[in-house]
Amino acid sequence: MTSWTDKHVVVTGGASFIGSHLVDKLVTLGADVTVVDNLSSGKKENLEQSWDKIKFIKKDLEYILKDDLKELFRDQEVVFHLAAVHGGRGYIATHPADVSSNFAIDHHVFEGCVSSNVDKIIFASTACVYPTNLQAEIGSDYKLREEDSNPFDLDKYMSADIEYGWGKLMSEMQMISFNKQYGLQGCPVRFVTAYGPRENETHAIIALIYKAVERMDPYVIWGDGNQERDFTYVEDIVEGSILAAERVSDCTPVNLGTGKRYKIIDVVEMICKIINWHPAQFKFDTSKPVGALSRALDNSRARDRISWTPRFSLEEGLRKTIQWYLTTHKIEGKVTERTLLEHS
Ligand SMILES: NC(=O)c1ccc[n+]([C@@H]2O[C@H](COP(=O)([O-])OP(=O)(O)OC[C@H]3O[C@@H](n4cnc5c(N)ncnc54)[C@H](O)[C@@H]3O)[C@@H](O)[C@H]2O)c1
Repeated sequence: MTSWTDKHVVVTGGASFIGSHLVDKLVTLGADVTVVDNLSSGKKENLEQSWDKIKFIKKDLEYILKDDLKELFRDQEVVFHLAAVHGGRGYIATHPADVSSNFAIDHHVFEGCVSSNVDKIIFASTACVYPTNLQAEIGSDYKLREEDSNPFDLDKYMSADIEYGWGKLMSEMQMISFNKQYGLQGCPVRFVTAYGPRENETHAIIALIYKAVERMDPYVIWGDGNQERDFTYVEDIVEGSILAAERVSDCTPVNLGTGKRYKIIDVVEMICKIINWHPAQFKFDTSKPVGALSRALDNSRARDRISWTPRFSLEEGLRKTIQWYLTTHKIEGKVTERTLLEHS
């Protein structure tokens, strides 16, 4: 695939944080984009920049008839499948039944792609497909490799991070089963802690910016602040997803992460420095869910197979995200717990 001009592309979940950035990019590349989203957490405002150039279909992919599925993907060439019940750690830990519906959503999308002869599907997977015992040691320099959760090798030990991660891993297996039985082409791309403009406060970086912008003092950090993450700026995620669509067909999963890890407390310090404010006191709330203790992705497969390397440093990405947040967030002088746990 060399050109996106006039290519017929669907982005499921295209009104989402990541989905809307992907839509904007595909539109600038000249693609003919259709967004399918039920707007459960996505917002039409996220699509403002591209609204006049896309087709928007409000549809629930969890409850959909076979004929409607076929019609939805008719004459489409590439599908980026991002629709999911999803949120940050607090959300996925407190909505285990809701996130389990992703397995049904994914099944419908794979089935729709096959019944309409879509050429390629790129499936938004996650670093939560990896076993948590490989991520249990703070200070570790181990980078998770795709083979650590290999959906092609069903006889090997596999594990994943809570229901959300298991669901995505099972859907990678589903995708391969559609490849084996019906020839479905494409691949899963495994995102890790994406951040950037349009993300909501259930996710770590936006939650930390929210607390700083609202001058929370004592500033509450979930856990002891030493947990480590690989943060990937949304524009890098979008670029990697498009490259994967151009270059991978055989359902091989590809990690999209920077391979660098930062402690949450250090990220908070970076945010405070950028906004030029610091709390008098931090409070560490160890009763809150923090997820794996140390997570970073090996990105050598992405480098070798799709020529992807992340372009944004954490500091650059934070500056861009904070700039957006300050122009869109209405300051209330307080932090509401519900905002950190639920989609608005
Ligand atoms: N944000 C991250 O850090 C991250 C990390 C790993 C993987 N992912 C994956 O990337 C994708 C996008 O993530 P995001 O952070 O932009 O999430 P998001 O919650 O903003 O996006 C999910 C989108 O799917 C839509 N949706 C949900 N249920 C639907 C249904 N039944 N039918 C149709 N649409 C439905 C929502 O309205 C929303 O627009 C998701 O698949 C997510 O699992 C995200």
